[in-house]
Amino acid sequence: MKTVIANWKMNLGIRESVALARGVLRRMRGKELLPDVVLCPSFTALSEVHKVTARSRVMLGAQNCGTVRSGAFTGEVSAAMLEDVRCSYVILGHSERRKYFGETDELVGERLKHVVEQSKLIPIVCVGESKEDHDAGKSEEVIESQLRGALSSLRGLPRGRKLFIAYEPVWAISTQEGITPVVGDMVEMHAKIRQLALARLACSEDQLQVIYGGSVNGENAYQYLRESEIDGVLVGGASLRLAQFDDILTSTVEVLEAQNAA
Ligand code: PGA
Repeated sequence: MKTVIANWKMNLGIRESVALARGVLRRMRGKELLPDVVLCPSFTALSEVHKVTARSRVMLGAQNCGTVRSGAFTGEVSAAMLEDVRCSYVILGHSERRKYFGETDELVGERLKHVVEQSKLIPIVCVGESKEDHDAGKSEEVIESQLRGALSSLRGLPRGRKLFIAYEPVWAISTQEGITPVVGDMVEMHAKIRQLALARLACSEDQLQVIYGGSVNGENAYQYLRESEIDGVLVGGASLRLAQFDDILTSTVEVLEAQNAA
């Protein structure tokens, strides 16, 4: 299976979110073979988007989560609260959280621990190296340390639980020119991440999904998703425009059909 996750970031209000979710559902109607689709609107739109997706196979995700169940933590939202609005997934440690809000690997680890211990949400932990680190040939080193930092908060991944790791090189996110790593490098990094995470989490392979994010669009999605190492894509910009997101879904369906035929 492949998973397509739409990260709408802080772009859409309730009305726009509902309209886009309805559009996505319309485009999926009648198609038998489909990827898992997860929509991640802003916190404020989650409830209303859920009304649209409730009786569909589209799932809902949040873009961040607090570290404790409840209490005097102004501005925080707990995992239980996200389950309350019917989220099934939550993005943790996105590079924008790290860059603009000072989130460290340790904090991402605390969020992850909270999500795994206090809810049934599926975490999507984001990792990715900066342009400087990439150019200095330090990509693997940085990813390894980010993974170690975040995953060491867990003693392991409990049986039956799933975890997504999104490899999102910072230098490939939201580029106008659609700059992305060459597929070979991407595949290698996914394999490395899988190997590291499996060793740290002592879990089975089917509990772990490693996905790619960064300037994914209808043109490049097929190329990435046909690689067996790449379990899905996390899409920002192109998920905000229905036609572009539909192109990505179509590419994914083509990959699934080709896999089925093989
Ligand atoms: P992008 O964003 O698709 O616009 O590059 C991806 C992300 O930030 O998750």
